Amino acid sequence: MKITNEQNDIERVLYTEKAIAARVEALGAEITEAYKGKMPIVVCILKGASFFYTDLCRSIKTDIYMDFISVSSYGSDSKSSGVVRLVKDINTNITGRDVILVEDIIDSGLTLNYLKDFFGARRPSSFKTVCLLEKEGRKNNAFQADYLGFRIPNEFVVGYGLDYADHYRNLPYIGVLKKECYEN
Ligand code: PRP
Repeated sequence: MKITNEQNDIERVLYTEKAIAARVEALGAEITEAYKGKMPIVVCILKGASFFYTDLCRSIKTDIYMDFISVSSYGSDSKSSGVVRLVKDINTNITGRDVILVEDIIDSGLTLNYLKDFFGARRPSSFKTVCLLEKEGRKNNAFQADYLGFRIPNEFVVGYGLDYADHYRNLPYIGVLKKECYEN
């Protein structure tokens, strides 16, 4: 692993702060329209979705209930371990409630497939997913988000919550990480 300076490690910027804000605002408006008067439980998947979640929640102009879940499948690696580990559950009973799950990225789809079953078993009255990024051209990507921010090339991206070994999360934009930063 060769991590130098955060800016220098980025090959190119995919989405600027401004482009992200505009897309998040539009997603918030769609969700506002769909959930008026329902007070959905909006769940953040920690840690990657944290910035997206807080920005999205602020752009939803109807009452919501906020909760957080933490799962992990990548650890400090650039490739998924293939197993989703529940680190922290939500604190709310979701039976009979409208649930919106907020995710930063769909790569293999493993995390959202796991959580769909996990939440489904608790019998919410509805269950939808919002995902900021989806990687295109993934063979095993069986999961489709109900609300999607951007479809991106199949490259390793960081920033705006997304990490490599917990680095780069606080970059305000989304960028492609130089290969030399994660390949030996
Ligand atoms: C990352 C990312 C998604 C998931 C996507 O989480 O934030 O939750 O992987 O990959 P998948 O579609 O192949 O499952 P990670 O396990 O790295 O935890 P983090 O959010 O705390 O970084």
